[in-house]
Amino acid sequence: MEGNGKLAVVIMAAGKGTRLKSQRPKVLHEIGGKPLLAHVIAAASQLAAPEDIYVVVGHQTEKVRAAVASSGVRFVDQLEQLGTGHAIQCAREAIKGYENILVLSGDVPLIRAETIEQLWQFHQAQQAAMSILTAAPSDPTGYGRIVRKTSLWPDMIPPEVEAIVEQKALTAKQEHLREINTGIYAFETAPLLEQLGKLTADNANHELILTDVAGLMFSAGKHVVDKQAPDAEEVLCANTIAELVALDATLRLATANRLMAQGVTIFRPETCTIDAGVEVAADTVIEPFVQLLGLTKIGSGCLIRSYSVIQDCTLGSDVLIRQSSVLTESTIADGARIGPFAHLRPGSEIGEGAHVGNFVETKKAKLGKGAKANHLTYLGDAEVGERTNIGAGVITCNYDGVHKHATRIGKDAFVGSDSTLVAPVTVGDGAYIGAGSCITKDVPGDSLAVARAQQIVKENWAAIRRARRQKE
Ligand code: UD1
Ligand code: CA
Repeated sequence: MEGNGKLAVVIMAAGKGTRLKSQRPKVLHEIGGKPLLAHVIAAASQLAAPEDIYVVVGHQTEKVRAAVASSGVRFVDQLEQLGTGHAIQCAREAIKGYENILVLSGDVPLIRAETIEQLWQFHQAQQAAMSILTAAPSDPTGYGRIVRKTSLWPDMIPPEVEAIVEQKALTAKQEHLREINTGIYAFETAPLLEQLGKLTADNANHELILTDVAGLMFSAGKHVVDKQAPDAEEVLCANTIAELVALDATLRLATANRLMAQGVTIFRPETCTIDAGVEVAADTVIEPFVQLLGLTKIGSGCLIRSYSVIQDCTLGSDVLIRQSSVLTESTIADGARIGPFAHLRPGSEIGEGAHVGNFVETKKAKLGKGAKANHLTYLGDAEVGERTNIGAGVITCNYDGVHKHATRIGKDAFVGSDSTLVAPVTVGDGAYIGAGSCITKDVPGDSLAVARAQQIVKENWAAIRRARRQKE
């Protein structure tokens, strides 16, 4: 943010989240594949440097710190959670050097930096002591409500905010109030510090609540104003699992809409689970019930068929992922075909135009251009050269119970069905392996290796046996 060397952001994230009925701290519950707190930090980071962002932590503080440590933000401890006002009291030392602070809630994750910026601009223009971001959702139940000073000219001058009244404290007369407090504020630091000291738990919440600061400021003759968020959806909070799931759906639908605007076809987007960091190029088609997770990147012209789950993978263009394939931390080059029911585990690199068919599992396996492993195969710690064909049921025996070993198969080779390759082992370019072989020694290029029991044929054996039985 420009010209704000004296602005800090405080994110309240110390609460337990009792209403979630969960062991996990509330701000570490995830939507769109990321903890609530990480979303709020991401928005804050667009407005302030990480060293000016203070996260108030308390409940399971080590876990919360570890989850967002990479963002570089600072932390403030609130060892006992005595309310949102107390959370800011705990940050007193941290904020006293700043002229103004922004306060965000760790459980309001859809907030956009633009909206916070608007509040900040408004706060400055108004020269306010406290500016509250408000909203008018269709159902205000559970939120604190904005009470205004009665104005003689309500249409002309937005009447000053007199107080924020929590749900529990609403009088019958106040229940009609639809304007809610979003838990996001801008404060001038000096008057805030002054009023924080006056908070008591003498209220319906029996806590030291930040919302009481509005009334205290008003009584002290300070300027308390509000700015309505352009969209009530972005300031909804997650107090219950149902609310959390609803926010997740909103966020994922927004991601799907962004991708569709970029030319991606997503059939039945409400059934797809797509994380916010996923990138997909135009002309790719995503069928219903697909999951695209983490930092997955998909090129153009691909078809991702139903029930496939793709996590942290990079796919080239014109890739076909057939139904129910599970791909993790792998790369798939242009024109490759995967599945149905394929399992690509971390470190799989599938070359251009290669085929990985049904019930094939790969792990740290590199398949060259045009290589094929079409049926019922395990390739672990393996390299398969260009155009090599891996028959049905082939297994690389990569694990001796203690160590993993590599299998190297050259290009233009043919590994017959049901062969086992006991690693470490190398098969040269152009070599053939007879079906059913158990290969324990290297196979030179262009040779044929057969390693199976010799077939014995006893002519007429069955007829003689039947004749003997009939006599008995
Ligand atoms: C709060 C507001 C309410 C507003 C709503 C918007 C208060 C008293 N009420 O209610 O007016 O409409 O947010 O979402 O502030 N926290 C701490 N330390 C504490 C208590 C809470 O850090 O001691 C953190 C929580 O982790 C959470 C945030 O503050 O991230 C808000 O607390 P929460 O208990 O969820 O407040 P609400 O009841 O939602
Ligand atoms: Ca809340």
